[in-house]
Amino acid sequence: MSERRRRCGAQVLREPPLTVRRRVARAAGRTWARLHYAQHVEPHLLSISRLRLPIRNLPSSFDGLRIVHLSDWHLHDDESIHRVQESIELANALEPDLVAITGDFIHDGHSKIETAGRLAAHIRASYGVVAVFGNHDWAVRSYWLRRYHASQPRRRRLRQSLRSALESYGVRVLQNEHFLLDRSRDVVAVVGLEDLWSHRCDVEAALKNLPPEIPRIILAHNPMTIEKLKSYRCDLLLAGHTHGGQIKLLQNRLLAFGRAVRHYRAGLYRANEGWLYVTTGVGCGSFRMRYGVPPEIAVITVYPGDPDRDPYVIHR
Ligand SMILES: [Fe+2]
Repeated sequence: MSERRRRCGAQVLREPPLTVRRRVARAAGRTWARLHYAQHVEPHLLSISRLRLPIRNLPSSFDGLRIVHLSDWHLHDDESIHRVQESIELANALEPDLVAITGDFIHDGHSKIETAGRLAAHIRASYGVVAVFGNHDWAVRSYWLRRYHASQPRRRRLRQSLRSALESYGVRVLQNEHFLLDRSRDVVAVVGLEDLWSHRCDVEAALKNLPPEIPRIILAHNPMTIEKLKSYRCDLLLAGHTHGGQIKLLQNRLLAFGRAVRHYRAGLYRANEGWLYVTTGVGCGSFRMRYGVPPEIAVITVYPGDPDRDPYVIHR
């Protein structure tokens, strides 16, 4: 009995010990409630992460450039479409200069390709929408079978159809390519790399003819791409793929499948003298649930500065 309770004469009433049947019933009830929450509540708790990052040699005309980062839509049913619509409404309300989508538009097959294009057409940004493909857009769903999957002609047709659908709705798809954002005669490069699992990621081709003094924002689906960028300038790499682990279990530790989740689960990292931001994404992958890892969109504002010295801000 605590000292305070003893002094005021309070009686401590102890609950009778639980029987085995009651314990099982309580555990089953908790599990059912958690499952229900993970399937029907948390996937809809879309949050906004706000970041302010210094970028080396960023021209002053780009001070305050606002990038909204979306990823991993995984379109497969009405619920997933509704989630993406919600994320697009939030993104538009943030009045971005550029919207960057880092892949996995569709979950499986051709059925949602047109939907992905129609949804993307609602995004408003002064420099438009730029995107790269993820492993699901290449129909590569297994790390172990990635070479075989990526080489299949019917899978090649999938990403060709997705590219033309997205482009017909105004999305700029970058497959190992870059383009320049232009403001008051200053430029910043936006680079898009192919997904690692497709075995077509070619950094050399993507950065061809790009002078090293030009700051660059790089889009890639898989955060492990940062390892391919070790000998190149990379001021900010935006990635998705991990879904933040998606399910946090075992006393709040994550079930960490795969190297990407173990090394770059989610959030902001210092890498290659620049930044890596890994978003938890908007949708759900093969497990149609989230627990302890809500979906997010990130809004990143950049300013001229030194990442080693100048402050960065993350606000969730
Ligand atoms: Fe994904």
